[in-house]
Amino acid sequence: MKIVTCTAPVNIAVIKYWGKRDEKLILPLNDSISFTLSQDEMCAKTTVAISPNFSEDKFWLNGKEESLENPRIQNCLKEIRRRASKRKMNGFDDEMLNWHIHVCSANNFPTAAGLASSAAGYACLVSALGSVYGVEGDLSVISRQGSGSACRSIYGGLVRWYKGEQTDGSDSFAKTIAPPDHWPNTRVIICIVNAGRKKTPSTEGMRRSVATSSLMEYRVQTSVVNRVNKIMQAINEKDWSMFCDITMADSNEMHAVCQDTFPPCVYMTDTSQAITSLVYQYNEIKMANKEDHHKICYTFDAGPNACLFVPGEVAEEVMNLVVTAFPPKPTQALDEYIRGEKPSNSELSK
Ligand code: ADP
Ligand code: DP6
Ligand code: CO
Repeated sequence: MKIVTCTAPVNIAVIKYWGKRDEKLILPLNDSISFTLSQDEMCAKTTVAISPNFSEDKFWLNGKEESLENPRIQNCLKEIRRRASKRKMNGFDDEMLNWHIHVCSANNFPTAAGLASSAAGYACLVSALGSVYGVEGDLSVISRQGSGSACRSIYGGLVRWYKGEQTDGSDSFAKTIAPPDHWPNTRVIICIVNAGRKKTPSTEGMRRSVATSSLMEYRVQTSVVNRVNKIMQAINEKDWSMFCDITMADSNEMHAVCQDTFPPCVYMTDTSQAITSLVYQYNEIKMANKEDHHKICYTFDAGPNACLFVPGEVAEEVMNLVVTAFPPKPTQALDEYIRGEKPSNSELSK
């Protein structure tokens, strides 16, 4: 029997991936850029075991048994096994490729709520599989085939996912473009507006956008290309204020594309919008005081929850502001999530 446990953090995109050119290989229409959060905050934890004594494949997600027949998991597994069979590691026995597999995974934050659970989840699964089967090298190309955003969680710091040009996806990988301490003082505040599952999963939402939104074409061909170039410059020059403005503009555009989708995908709620107003108001005051370096910014994935990037010096001030403006009230979904923690953890310790 071989058994491995891994953890992988979420990543929050500042230039969003929204739309594929190849559904099966998960090839995006544009490059995207993200921050990978630190490993000990929001993460997925996955245990993979293979044994000649297992009589079938099994998979548990957050304490509930699910089917491992999910095509995305199968694609990752096939690719890992293909690479393992080529490698013939020290002590790696081909017979192991035929052993059944048990996978047990849990996220320590809400799943499918627009907080990048698919990113942490697939990055973690592929890392654990890589370890069990002795596969080394770049795993971003494999995790990409589980969930596109997952390729960026393989690496730390600021990460760019290059869309690539090839039809086989071999050049569609992720790479660190700046180390975790590039902006060492940056803090991320996650504002949970609703911890429940989104109505339209990202995969379906972006598929519908590609099929129906005319704004999507402008985004992919013009605006996002310009924004990627500008944010690369902002990162290289450590221009925090420019970085913040581009991040907010790209989040706004992604959600505009979602609105332009037919029928529209509405991920942001009134509370999400109110958070954006608070950020603009805050920045106006900071700008008036000539404190550009204290600017803050928001970004929203496909969900109502806000991610705020804030300089450490003002993190507490911003937290207090958010909590004062939006006093926390436990929602039912949040209660369910909190109650759900126990079963997930007990599954993992088996
Ligand atoms: P999110 O915004 O949270 O990434 P998505 O709609 O993109 O939401 O993806 C949610 C899906 O990702 C889940 O329904 C599940 O299939 C998959 N997923 C989430 N977490 C994990 C995990 N830890 N391991 C495997 N798959 C996961
Ligand atoms: C809004 O990676 O979840 O979070 O590739 O279909 O699994 P699939 O989609 P997913 O999409 C993420 C979209 C986003 C933006 C981003 O993370 O870049
Ligand atoms: Co996702």
